[in-house]
Amino acid sequence: MKVLCVILAVAAFARATDIHLQKVVGGISGEANTTRYWDCCKPSCSWAENVNAQSPVASCAVDGVTVLDPSSGSGCAEDGSGISYVCTNQQPWAVNDTVAFGFAAASFSGGADNSQCCVCLQLSFLNVLPNKKLIVQVTNTGGDLESNHFDIQLPGGGVGYFTHGCVSQWNCPANGWGAQYGGITSESECNELPEVLQPGCHFRFNWFENADNPKVTFEQVVCPSELTSITGCVV
Ligand SMILES: *[C@@H]1O[C@H](CO)[C@@H](O)[C@H](O)[C@H]1NC(C)=O
Ligand SMILES: *[C@@H]1O[C@H](CO)[C@@H](O)[C@H](O)[C@H]1NC(C)=O
Repeated sequence: MKVLCVILAVAAFARATDIHLQKVVGGISGEANTTRYWDCCKPSCSWAENVNAQSPVASCAVDGVTVLDPSSGSGCAEDGSGISYVCTNQQPWAVNDTVAFGFAAASFSGGADNSQCCVCLQLSFLNVLPNKKLIVQVTNTGGDLESNHFDIQLPGGGVGYFTHGCVSQWNCPANGWGAQYGGITSESECNELPEVLQPGCHFRFNWFENADNPKVTFEQVVCPSELTSITGCVV
């Protein structure tokens, strides 16, 4: 097992060099579980007080496009008073067959989760998706997540704990599209999502090969501009 880990680490490093990603010396790394979600909610790294950066992660008006002031309330607030949602462009996309970019909620063992807001990580999948790397920026934290867990933002991947957001933003079914946890189960159901969210939904069935909560190894990388130009958050 140790030998395998070393080989994986070397392979991951080689790939990181390949795509001009710079590994963060002394950064976080390890093994983690993943799940998927799209709850439409304002990400927790969109609050200025949660982020050690000049700008927190962009959050958007109900149209999913107009960036709002970081102090605007969450559209997932239970009293229905908030106006701020996740921006539609924070969905994953494939660069090519082996490299993709995306966003994730994360929970790590050791250290306050908020201190990890906006860090970037290269995820390599164990057992499935050989040679594929998903580079994510952490935009959300998960009080409901176990330690070392990434909840990957995939439209149609289930709304999870917060059922109010997508109803309020897109008038989706009461517990989201498909199952509350896990979401839809076939690519054809992507058609039920708003058109602007369909590319990220198809991504799950194409590049991501509908992998079901694959385990990953992760290592911290310097955030590429492909991600920070979308979130506006640079740590
Ligand atoms: C995929 O894109 C990455 C990043 O630009 C590049 O380094 C890599 O060589 C590409 N792989 C293929 C198979 O084209
Ligand atoms: C992944 O989940 C399993 C089952 O819930 C758990 O036993 C394991 O410790 C988790 N792995 C990590 C790295 O947290």
